Order: sequence, then structure tokens, then C-alpha cells
Amino acid sequence: MAMEEATIKQCCATFYGSDLARMLLGDSFHPGGVRLTQRLGELLGLAPEMHVLDVAAGRGTSALHLAKSFGCRVTGIDLSEANIVAAREAANAEGLGERVHFALADAERLPFADVTFDAIVCECAFCTFPGKDVAAAEFARVLKTGGGVGISDLTRTAAPLPELQDLLAWIACIGDALPMQEYASILTRGGLAVEQMEAQNGALEEMVRGVQSRLLGLEIASGLGKLDIPGLDLSAAKQFARAAAEAIRSGKLGYAILIARRRTE
Ligand SMILES: C[S@@+](CC[C@H](N)C(=O)[O-])C[C@H]1O[C@@H](n2cnc3c(N)ncnc32)[C@H](O)[C@@H]1O
Repeated sequence: MAMEEATIKQCCATFYGSDLARMLLGDSFHPGGVRLTQRLGELLGLAPEMHVLDVAAGRGTSALHLAKSFGCRVTGIDLSEANIVAAREAANAEGLGERVHFALADAERLPFADVTFDAIVCECAFCTFPGKDVAAAEFARVLKTGGGVGISDLTRTAAPLPELQDLLAWIACIGDALPMQEYASILTRGGLAVEQMEAQNGALEEMVRGVQSRLLGLEIASGLGKLDIPGLDLSAAKQFARAAAEAIRSGKLGYAILIARRRTE
């Protein structure tokens, strides 16, 4: 891997903890928003007695949705301190502080005992982990036997996408997007049995369209002198979004859900 692991992790966490990420994406930082979170919860068969781990939980939007929709307990972890603070505030504001907790942690070193959780969700983040095999083994370790993992993530067809390989691509979770089958192989190596894979490319297309129109709004506002966003290179971001839209249209880039279960030894 060309880019240094610590740089990737830090840039990803810093970007998704920023106001800019919220401006471009809203509160839910993955394609399909809570609609796909609901789908993951249904495929995992979540129920009120369960304790669910949300790995790379962002601002806690999905964790709160799962707790409200399925009645389960949820613990969310993320590498961005700003996100953890925002997620805790959101949980308290919704009166869910007793049932939904958040902690600053790395997906590759989960601070939990073996066999703790009934289910795990990980949305639009697995592909950014430099140590995907390590993360998959961590998922299996903290899951109870038979517990389910639901991942939703960026996928690509066989060939890497050279036009989408820079730091921006890593931050947008595209840089190390893998073919669906490769995610399945990683989960299998980690000790999980893959049960289901489902393409959700339309959700990604919709998200990129949303980002493009928000970038246009930002461009207009900055042209009128109403907005100055330090660190945002609007033309690079627009060009990147165009390349992503083209890759989706040509079928090179997509989005998918994978459901796996911890194997009984
Ligand atoms: C695209 S966002 C997705 C957030 C959330 N799952 C959602 O769908 O709203 C990616 C998130 O992964 C977090 N992240 C990146 N690398 C991580 C790691 N190694 N461990 C924990 N969180 C990580 C980032 O801080 C960011 O909040």
C-alpha cells in the first residue's frame, strides 16, 4: 500500500469529524442513509435483547436508529473524537444515553472482551481500514458464536481505479474499495461465514449526486463571498466527484451489503 497507514486513518477521522463532511453528507456518512441501516438491521435479525457494536459509528446516526428501530443496546466506536462527542450529545438529546454508548477506539484494536456482542455493523468504513484482515479477526473475536456482522461498503470491479487513488479517494472510502468477493474472502479468513451479498449501487449514485449538488451550492456561496471554507479545494472536489460518478455509471464502482456470521468452531 502506497499511502502510510497512520496518515490514512488520521485523515479519514479528521475529515469525518469536520463541519465540511456534514455540509457535504448530512449526519449519516454512508450511501443509502438510515434506509440501508434499517436493511442491515433486518438482515441481521436484530432484536431488543441484543447488544450491537457499530464499528466506525461516525456521529452515531446509525447507532441511534438501530436502538430506536429494533430496541437493542448499541455501543459505537470511532477514531474521531469530534464524532464521539457529537454522537454522545445526540444520544443524550434523544434520551437514549442509557442504551447507546460511544467510545474512542480503533476498529483494528477493539477495546472489548472476547464474545461480547450479538451483532456488529460497520458502514462505509471497512474499506478504509489499512488492516482489513486484523479488523475482520477483531470482529470475530468480540462476537458471540453465531453472531452476525453486517457490512455496507464501496465496491469496485476487478481492475483498480487509478483516477481514484489519491488521499481524497481514501477519505471518500474509494481508495481501497475491493470487489465484493474480496471482502467476503477477508471476512472468511477472519473466522466468519458469509451468508449474503447484495449490490446497492443505486444508493451510491444517489449519494454522489447529492454531493455534486452541495458542491455546486458551496461554489455559488463562495463566489458570492458568503463562504470561505479553509482547506477545501472546490475544483479538485468537483473533479473527483465527476470521476466517481463516471466510475459508477460505467459499473467500475458500486456499493454493497455483506452479511456474515461467526462460525461455530
Ligand atoms: C464514511 S464514515 C462512516 C461513518 C458511519 N459508519 C456512518 O455511516 O455514518 C467513516 C468513519 O470511519 C471512522 N474511522 C476510520 N478509520 C477508523 C478506524 N480504524 N477505527 C474506527 N473508526 C474509524 C472515521 O472517523 C469516520 O467516522
